[in-house]
Amino acid sequence: MTIRVEEAADWTAVYTIYAEAFGQLTEAELVRHLHDDGDLILSLIAHGDKPAGHIAFSRLALHETPAIRGVVLAPLAVRPEFQAKGVGSVLVRYGLEKLTSDGYDLVVVLGDPDYYSRFGFTPRLASQLKTPYDGPYLQALALSDKGKEAHGPVSYARAFAELK
Ligand SMILES: CC(C)(COP(=O)(O)OP(=O)(O)OC[C@H]1O[C@@H](n2cnc3c(N)ncnc32)[C@H](O)[C@@H]1OP(=O)(O)O)[C@@H](O)C(=O)NCCC(=O)NCCS
Repeated sequence: MTIRVEEAADWTAVYTIYAEAFGQLTEAELVRHLHDDGDLILSLIAHGDKPAGHIAFSRLALHETPAIRGVVLAPLAVRPEFQAKGVGSVLVRYGLEKLTSDGYDLVVVLGDPDYYSRFGFTPRLASQLKTPYDGPYLQALALSDKGKEAHGPVSYARAFAELK
């Protein structure tokens, strides 16, 4: 399995991954909107003998702590035939390492705590934020000491608002 930054030639693969994982195209179209709006910060694709999974990270604005560089993890998907083989975990860990080395401070995700807690995400850190998705499924991970100080209202990229 190799992980690499997604390229324009990967669109078909990205649509296939999300269509198979979710049975719909909403998430693939979210990635496309994030890309078209210039809001994608990191977009990774996992390849085995064929495309296996994809993860996207997009910009997050922290209004009370603008010096904190935040991102949103969403969406993430692994094709059914590749699920439960560690592909999702490799994508998350690879992404978090790259974001840390690029100087980002905070990652926010909406998802199952049983899955995301293994990477260190906690609802407690996320509860310091005011987001459109507040609740037990909202989790955050600090990539730096600065990230732990994040609080107050945040704005997701525009493509998320257009999902509703
Ligand atoms: C969720 C998903 C991205 C995980 O990727 P993956 O490559 O299958 O997961 P990994 O192999 O890295 O990890 C497997 C572990 O995750 C758990 N897991 C898989 N999907 C899960 C889910 N939706 N919720 C909670 N835990 C989940 C498995 O039970 C397994 O746990 P274990 O290590 O304790 O045995 C992938 O299964 C997927 O795309 N699923 C369909 C779409 C979906 O539900 N997306 C939700 C994303 S928030």
